[in-house]
Amino acid sequence: MNVKDVFETMAYGPAPESAAEALAWIAERGGTFGHFIDGVFTKPGKGFESRNPATGELLAKLTQARQADVDAAVKAARTAQGGWARLGGAGRARTLYALARLLQKHSRLFAVLESLDNGKPIRESRDIDVPLAQRHFYFHAGMAQLMEDELPDRAPLGVCGQVIPWNFPLLMLAWKIAPALAMGNTVVLKPAEYTSLTALLFAEICQQAGLPKGVVNIVTGDGAVGEMVVAAEVDKVAFTGSTAVGRRIRDATAGSGKVLTLELGGKSPYIVFDDADLDSAVEGLVDAIWFNQGQVCCAGSRLLVHEPVAELFYAKLRARMDKLRVGDPLDKSIDIGAIVDPVQLKTITDLVAANTAGETHVATTDLPAMGSFYPPTLITGLNPADTLMQEEIFGPVLVSTTFRTPEEAVALANNSRYGLAATVWSENINLALDIAPKLATGIVWVNGTNLMDAAAGFGGVRESGFGREGGWEGLAAYTRPKGTAKPLKEIAAFAGAGAPTDPIDRTAKLYIGGKQARPDSGYSAPVWGKSGALLGHVSLANRKDLRNAVEAAQAAKGWSKTTGHLRAQILYYIGENLAARAAEFAGRLDAMQGGKHGAKEVEAAINRLFTYAAWADKYDGQVHGVPIRGVALAMKEPVGVIGAICPNQAPLVGLMSCMAPAIAMGNRVILSASEPFPLAATDFIQVLETSDVPAGVVNILTGSHSEIASHMAGHMDIDAVWCFGAAPLSGEVERASASNLKRTWVNNGQARDWMGAAGQGHEFLRAATEVKNIWVPYGE
Ligand code: NAI
Repeated sequence: MNVKDVFETMAYGPAPESAAEALAWIAERGGTFGHFIDGVFTKPGKGFESRNPATGELLAKLTQARQADVDAAVKAARTAQGGWARLGGAGRARTLYALARLLQKHSRLFAVLESLDNGKPIRESRDIDVPLAQRHFYFHAGMAQLMEDELPDRAPLGVCGQVIPWNFPLLMLAWKIAPALAMGNTVVLKPAEYTSLTALLFAEICQQAGLPKGVVNIVTGDGAVGEMVVAAEVDKVAFTGSTAVGRRIRDATAGSGKVLTLELGGKSPYIVFDDADLDSAVEGLVDAIWFNQGQVCCAGSRLLVHEPVAELFYAKLRARMDKLRVGDPLDKSIDIGAIVDPVQLKTITDLVAANTAGETHVATTDLPAMGSFYPPTLITGLNPADTLMQEEIFGPVLVSTTFRTPEEAVALANNSRYGLAATVWSENINLALDIAPKLATGIVWVNGTNLMDAAAGFGGVRESGFGREGGWEGLAAYTRPKGTAKPLKEIAAFAGAGAPTDPIDRTAKLYIGGKQARPDSGYSAPVWGKSGALLGHVSLANRKDLRNAVEAAQAAKGWSKTTGHLRAQILYYIGENLAARAAEFAGRLDAMQGGKHGAKEVEAAINRLFTYAAWADKYDGQVHGVPIRGVALAMKEPVGVIGAICPNQAPLVGLMSCMAPAIAMGNRVILSASEPFPLAATDFIQVLETSDVPAGVVNILTGSHSEIASHMAGHMDIDAVWCFGAAPLSGEVERASASNLKRTWVNNGQARDWMGAAGQGHEFLRAATEVKNIWVPYGE
C-alpha cells in the first residue's frame, strides 16, 4: 500500500512490536524449561510444546510435572512457610514491593512474551495485563505492611496450591500469589499448559527480588498436574478456570479441611437501555466481548437491548464490528489477536456452527491467512433458553436478545446459572442504581465494563464460584483465625430408663413458614435427660420437610429488602422475649444436658441476639477509590437462604449463633437444631411466635443431622450451608454442594467455644454476606 492508498482508504498501517527480546530470552534458556522449585529451576524433562497461536510456531518446550516434582514443590513451600510468616508483615511488604518494581522494570518483556504465548494484542498485555499485575503486587505489599495492625486476629493458612487458566496468565498469577504471600503463606502454582512462559519469567523475578527459596514454586503441566496440586498436602486450593473443573475440585477436596476458592465461568449480561449513550455503549461492547478475543470470564457476552433502540443499536454495532482489525497480536494497531490454541478455536467454531437460531452477523474484517483466529461475531434474535444464550462460548461471539421493561431486563439478566458480572448502560442514574442491586452477580459496572482493580474484590455468585480476589475481602481466603483449634468431641444423646410413656402427646413440632408443622415422616423420637427421665419427644424431619422449609424461606424474600434498623428491632425483641423466659430455658438446658450452666447459656444466647441486633445496621460496605474515573461501591448483600446444621453442643447459644447473624444481615434460615439436645430449639419456636419475625424467615427442623445435611447442600434453592455438626458431615456437605457450587462453611471436625468470643463476630458476618462491587462513574 502506498501513501496515496493510505489516504484514500484511511487504513491503518502495521505498527509491530519486536519479538526479538522475548525470543532471545527463550533462546538464552535453551528453549526448554523445567519447574521452579525451592528457588531454583529444575532440569527440563519430558513434556509438551508451547506454541505461538498467531503463527503456530514453536516457542518453547515445557516440562510435564510428575508426582515427585509436585511433592518436592509442596515440601519446599512447607519448609519455607514458617520463616516467611515470621519475617513479619513489614519484611514481606519489602519483598512484594520489590516484585512490583521488577515487574515494572521488565514490563515490556512480560508484555511481549505474554502476547507471543497467549495471542492477546500487545496493546492489552502492555496496557492492561502487566500494569494490573504490578498494581496487585503494590496493593498487597501494602496489605502485608498493614496485616499485624489491621488483622491482628488472623494467621496465614500455610501452603496454597493454585491452579490458573490461560486467558490472563500473568495477571491471574498476580491475583493468586500476591495476597497469599502478603498474608504469610507460601505457594505452589500451576500455570495453564498453553501459557506458562510469563510464570517462568516471574520465577526469575522472584530470584532477583531476593524472595526466600521455597516461598514461590511453579510446576508446569496439564490438568493432571493440576489434579496433583489439588490433591497434595496443601492447606488451601485456589482455582480459576472452567465450571466443570471447579466442580471436580470441589468434589476432590470435600472433607479434606482445605480452604477452597473458585473463580469460574460466566455469561455476563450487558444491558443497554433506550436512554443510554448508544455510541459509548457500542464502544463499551468492544471492551466487553472483543477484549482478549472474548476469552474473559466476566466478558459481557450476553447483550440485552431495550426494544425501542434495538435496531439502531444493532446497526451501530455491526458497523463498529466491521471496523475491528484482527491480526498479528504484536501489531499495535490491531484490535483482536489470536485465540489461545487451535483446541479453543475448535470449541468456539463448533458451538457457533451448531447454532441454528437467530441471525448471525460475522464481521467483514479480514482474517490472517494462518494461525488461530476467529472473526468478531454477533448473533441477534435469540431466545433466553437457546444454548448460546446459556453456555459460555469464551470467544469473540456476542449473543443478543431484546427486552421491553426494566423488570424484563432483570429477569433475562438473572436467567443464567452463572453470576459473575453485569453491565448496565443508561444515562438515568435512578434506573441504573435501581437495577444494580437486583442483578444476581458479584460485580456490576454502570456505564463502563470489564473494570478491575486490586482494591475491589472480584468474584461471583451461583456457578461462577465463591470467594473474592482483591480488596480486604480477598484476604479472608488466605488467612484463618489465630490459635489452635481443638478437635470436636462427639456428643451422644442420653439413653432413657424404661419405655417412653406419656399419656399426653407432647411431641414438639417443626417450625416451617411461621407455623408449627408435623413431620412428613410421621415419626418422632424420645428425648431423655441425663438421669434417664423422659423430657419430651421431637419430630424427625426428612427431606420433604426440608423442601417445605426451603419453599417457605424462598417465599420470605421480602426480609432481604428490609432495613437494618427493622431487623435490629426484631432481634432485640426476640432477645427480650427470651429474657422473659430465661429461667424456664435455663431449666430446660440443665435437664437436657445434665449440668448447671443453663442460666449462663441463656444469658450468652440473649447477648448474642443483642450483639447481632447491634450489627444489623452497622455492618456496612465500603467505597473503593479505584484508579478510574469512578468509584466501586462494595455493598454487603445477604447471601439469600442459608441452611445451618447447628452445633450439638450449646444447644441454645449455638442455635442463636447461627440464626442471629444470618437474619441480621437479611438472610432467611433453615436451622437443623442440636441433635442430642433439640428441646431448647423447639421451645424457642414459642419465642419466635411472639417476636414479629415474618413467616419463613426462620425455620427450625429437628431430628437427624445426617438425614438433612447432604440434601441441604444439594438443594438448588439454598444459597449457602453452614455445618457445625459431627465431623463426618463436613465432607458430606462439601461434596453435595458441588451440584450448584454453593458456598459452604464447615467445622472440619474442629471444636468452637460457642459461649465465648469465637461464637460470634466478623467471621459470621462475612459468611452471612456477599460483597457486590458496583462500579459507578464519579468525579472527573
Ligand atoms: P480448564 O478449567 O480445564 O483449565 C484451567 C486450568 O485448570 C488449567 O491450568 C488446567 O491445566 C487446569 N486443570 C484442568 N483440569 C484440571 C483438574 N481436573 N484438576 C485441576 N486442574 C485442572 O479450562 P480449559 O479446558 O482450558 O478451557 C475450557 C473452557 O473453560 C473454556 O472454553 C472456557 O469456557 C472455560 N474457562 C474459563 C476461564 C475463566 O476464567 N472463567 C478460564 C479458562 C477457561
